Amino acid sequence: MDHFNYKDGELFAEGVALKDIAKKYGTPTYVYSKATLERHAKAYIDSFESMSGLVCFSVKALSNISILKTLRISGCGFDIVSGGELHRAILAGADPKKIIFSGVGKSKDEMVAGIKHNILSFNIESEAELDRLTSVATEMNKVAPVAIRFNPNVDAGAHEFTKTGRKSDKFGVSTKTAKELIKKCTESKSINLVGLTCHIGSQIMELKGFEDAAKQALELMIALDELEINLDFIDMGGGLGVSYVGEETFQPSELIRCYETIFAGRNEKLILEPGRSISANAGIMLTKVEYEKDGFRITDAAMNDLLRPALYNAHHDVWPLVESNKQTTEVNLVGPICETGDFLAKNINISASQDDLLAVKTVGAYGFVMSSNYNSRPRAAEVLVDNKKFYLIRKREDHSSLTAFEEGLDDQI
Ligand code: LLP
Repeated sequence: MDHFNYKDGELFAEGVALKDIAKKYGTPTYVYSKATLERHAKAYIDSFESMSGLVCFSVKALSNISILKTLRISGCGFDIVSGGELHRAILAGADPKKIIFSGVGKSKDEMVAGIKHNILSFNIESEAELDRLTSVATEMNKVAPVAIRFNPNVDAGAHEFTKTGRKSDKFGVSTKTAKELIKKCTESKSINLVGLTCHIGSQIMELKGFEDAAKQALELMIALDELEINLDFIDMGGGLGVSYVGEETFQPSELIRCYETIFAGRNEKLILEPGRSISANAGIMLTKVEYEKDGFRITDAAMNDLLRPALYNAHHDVWPLVESNKQTTEVNLVGPICETGDFLAKNINISASQDDLLAVKTVGAYGFVMSSNYNSRPRAAEVLVDNKKFYLIRKREDHSSLTAFEEGLDDQI
């Protein structure tokens, strides 16, 4: 459920007419609904029954610090994958003891930063990474908290690029290696083993893959019981799919029920790292039709603003800001970038004329965060709607921001 609805033929975000945002801040602009974000965070947080839980929002999905602050106030911790995301989470006031550091390639500097901030856990994905963290912690005379990410070798569907739980994917270690690394952790004075973790992919539409992974986690946990090795938490990652084309989806409560059934009787805390299922349908992108041309509508937003259609052939619904009775036509919605792959939507039926405003839906996850300056296009603005008010939470970039980090005009080169 989201809070983007037509009222008297005009599209609103909560209590704000989207045309007012377009008028004030121009297009393309990302607009997020605070009530939707809060509702989705709550849908996770309120669903834990038999297990104590922690919801770590996956910052990579939507990383604006005002959004992170909103989710932090709603009770979320954060799943981060870089020093930059750590910086954002800290700026948003995150409790470091609710920060999980995931990712296969943590640099030494990122490890130092995580240790200094006293985060909850480094989710370790290889022996080499564990060795590096051990030497970093030893050098700092600190103890680093670690969870081992195992790869359950399950294929839970979704796009080829976003599956992460198969043996052939770069993520995690086999259950056999996981046991070895866990033993290594318990033998190190610089490492504190705190958990076990896995994440099998994104935009997953069936519970079966999550169940298979959880059953394997349970087997591993039982094997550790026998070695008298205790864990503070089991972190099952994110991945719950959302509806882009009217698909049936599972509620966070259904996912949590499934985990609680499998982990019944265990004392570990259950950590989840949802991204998309919290923020995707809390965001839309406003864009304007610049030109009509044969079967095309050329918009002022392009693949640099929203990469998902070009990269994954992803579908996003597009709604006009003003409902009309005009005849719809089948068109391709394309951007101004010089590539045939630059499209927002293909073969959609819409009535869209020059200067009309449109809303590209379900872009609150992996939308703005994947935008770029390709074709030297400044990045879009971001706006947060809270009931009848709206706030600019990121200014539109301008031409000087495009070149701000470049050097060489002083004839030195
Ligand atoms: N935890 C880890 C370790 C992850 O790698 C991810 C996503 C998540 C949690 C959050 O997953 P979610 O709940 O959002 O599915 N750019 C792609 C999605 C890439 C997902 C990467 N990892 C897209 O636009 O579909």
